[in-house]
Amino acid sequence: MNIEITYLDRLDEGEVKDGSVNAEHPMRKVTQQVAFESSGWTPERAAKVVKLFDEMAETWKDKDFDSRVLPLTDALERGGIVPGGLGVELGCGTGAYSSLLSKYFDSLLCVDISFEMLFRSSSPDGFRVRGDGSNLPLESGSVDGLFCINTLLFPKEVDRILSKDGYLVWVSTSGSQTPIYLPPEDVLAAIGREFVGVSSEAGPGTWSVFRRR
Ligand SMILES: C[S@@+](CC[C@H](N)C(=O)[O-])C[C@H]1O[C@@H](n2cnc3c(N)ncnc32)[C@H](O)[C@@H]1O
Repeated sequence: MNIEITYLDRLDEGEVKDGSVNAEHPMRKVTQQVAFESSGWTPERAAKVVKLFDEMAETWKDKDFDSRVLPLTDALERGGIVPGGLGVELGCGTGAYSSLLSKYFDSLLCVDISFEMLFRSSSPDGFRVRGDGSNLPLESGSVDGLFCINTLLFPKEVDRILSKDGYLVWVSTSGSQTPIYLPPEDVLAAIGREFVGVSSEAGPGTWSVFRRR
C-alpha cells in the first residue's frame, strides 16, 4: 500500500509522558479490531464500551486538560485546517475540546455513545448528540472536519460522511501512551489509500490530519 504521510518537526513544548500502556492494553486491542476488522464492533462490544465510559464519566472532568490540549491546538495551527462548514467531534466525552473546536466551524456536532459523558459536558458550545460512530446520523459527504480525540476509528463512516475536501483529525493526547491509540500509519492504512496525511507530535501527544488526494 502506498502510505503517504508528511511528518512535521515536533512542537517542543510540554512533557512527553512515560507509562506502561502498550499493545496488550484491552482498549488497544479493541481500537485495532474496530479499525481493521469488519466484525470488530458488535452490539455486545458497544454495550461494554458504554458501560465503561458511563462509569468513568463522573471523574473524567478531573483530568488535566490544559496539558492535553496541546496536540489539538498544534493540529489546528499546522494541520492545514480550513475553518467553516460542519465539524463533528466524535467521542467528545465531557466536552473538554468542544468550545475550542466550535470556533472553527459554522456548526459543531459533538457525538458520544455515553449518555453520562454527554450529560456532564462542561461546554456550552456545539450540539451534543448521543450516537454511535459506526453509524452516524449524518448525510453522506456532509462533514467538513471530523475530530477523533482519543476515541475509536470507524473507517467506513469516515469515508462516507466526509465531504470531498473534508478532513479527519486524529489526536492522541498522550501519544503512544493513549489507551485508544493508533499510530498515523495505521489510521491511514485503515481509511484507505485515497487519503494523504500530515502528522506531528506536540507536548505529550500526537496528531494527524488526513484528507483525500
Ligand atoms: C477516552 S474517551 C475520550 C473523550 C474525549 N474525547 C477526551 O479526549 O477527553 C473516549 C470517548 O469515546 C466515546 N466512544 C467510544 N466509542 C464510541 C462510539 N462508537 N461512538 C461514539 N462515541 C464513542 C466514549 O464514550 C468516550 O466518551
